[in-house]
Amino acid sequence: MKKKVLVVGNLGYVGSIIDKILFTNNIEVYGIDPNWFSNDISENDYVYRQWNDDFRKLLHNKEVWEINYDAVVYLAAVSNDPMGANFAQVTREINGEFCIEAAKKCKELGINKFIFASSCSTYGLADNNARKENDEINPITEYAKSKIFAEMKLKEICDENFEAICLRFATACGSSPNLRLDLVLNDFITAAHVNNTVEVLSDGTPWRPLIHVQDMGLSILWAIDYQNNNKFTVVNVGSEKFTYQIKDLAKKVVEFIPGCKLKISSDKPADSRSYKVDFSLYHEIADKKFHPKYDVDRAIEDIYSQVKALNIEKDFRSSSKWIRLKKLQENISKSKMNNQLFWINNN
Ligand SMILES: NC(=O)c1ccc[n+]([C@@H]2O[C@H](COP(=O)([O-])OP(=O)(O)OC[C@H]3O[C@@H](n4cnc5c(N)ncnc54)[C@H](O)[C@@H]3O)[C@@H](O)[C@H]2O)c1
Repeated sequence: MKKKVLVVGNLGYVGSIIDKILFTNNIEVYGIDPNWFSNDISENDYVYRQWNDDFRKLLHNKEVWEINYDAVVYLAAVSNDPMGANFAQVTREINGEFCIEAAKKCKELGINKFIFASSCSTYGLADNNARKENDEINPITEYAKSKIFAEMKLKEICDENFEAICLRFATACGSSPNLRLDLVLNDFITAAHVNNTVEVLSDGTPWRPLIHVQDMGLSILWAIDYQNNNKFTVVNVGSEKFTYQIKDLAKKVVEFIPGCKLKISSDKPADSRSYKVDFSLYHEIADKKFHPKYDVDRAIEDIYSQVKALNIEKDFRSSSKWIRLKKLQENISKSKMNNQLFWINNN
């Protein structure tokens, strides 16, 4: 019989890839997403049943929970640092508190597998040693703090009948039906294409591990079947070979895209996040077929071909079409204009 998996936040940048990967692996996918950031997608062909609403409203919805899911994947999020800085309370609520509500609901209903999209940004500003899962964390931003809050609470509620897996993902990159350009590599490639310049808005020294969205999908597929006697797993997901200092990542893009220049703003303040991450645990516990396949060259090729095919404006960094924070602000102001309550506007 097909497994049934509910993906909360399934229409975003990562979610739209996950839906397809699960579907093609013979999983019946159910989705919840108010679709805040999409330009034109409200469902996709891979989802058996879609609810286009805020999970906070659906927490006790009978129809959602009458299905016998084998696992729930929680991707819903206010999904980066700038949004977290502007919308702190909602970040805590969606990324943290309602993740725990979802997990408690699963436990109550006997759904015994919960997969949470956490982040390597929880390592914050770390020294040069690659961080392991049990090493000290240093969540600086609201976004990172919300992820750690969720991880800690998940640990408390796990028991022999309820298992949680927290995937601490590296920074995502890659093409997606719901592309976002507020991610470092996607931004560099787009800037190189539309402005002939890659501009690094720091001195470029921070270390950043990356992962292609397709490889994030593989790890979720792995997590659905993974069995662990401990019932609570935190694992870094990414690869050493896709870990770069920002300036070297920028150089790679410049080498790839003909005629493009590199501008490093050495006078700008250093980035408050820099971390190397140890990915050996994932490579140990996940079968090779689930290990990341993309390196920087393949990822650049993939993003560049999507970006070239789109009509992206020169000032894409101020466009709500590509930048999550801008889209959220636009949604809120439209909601105010129409005297409606946009659910995020409560801080
Ligand atoms: N993109 C990255 O670099 C990265 C890295 C590490 C971890 N993650 C995590 O992976 C997950 C997916 O990231 P993404 O890049 O696809 O982000 P995204 O912003 O593209 O997608 C998030 C999706 O969640 C939905 N959502 C938000 N609040 C919701 C709610 N209350 N109920 C239901 N749906 C809701 C949004 O509509 C959106 O479609 C997030 O949890 C993010 O923190 C992402």
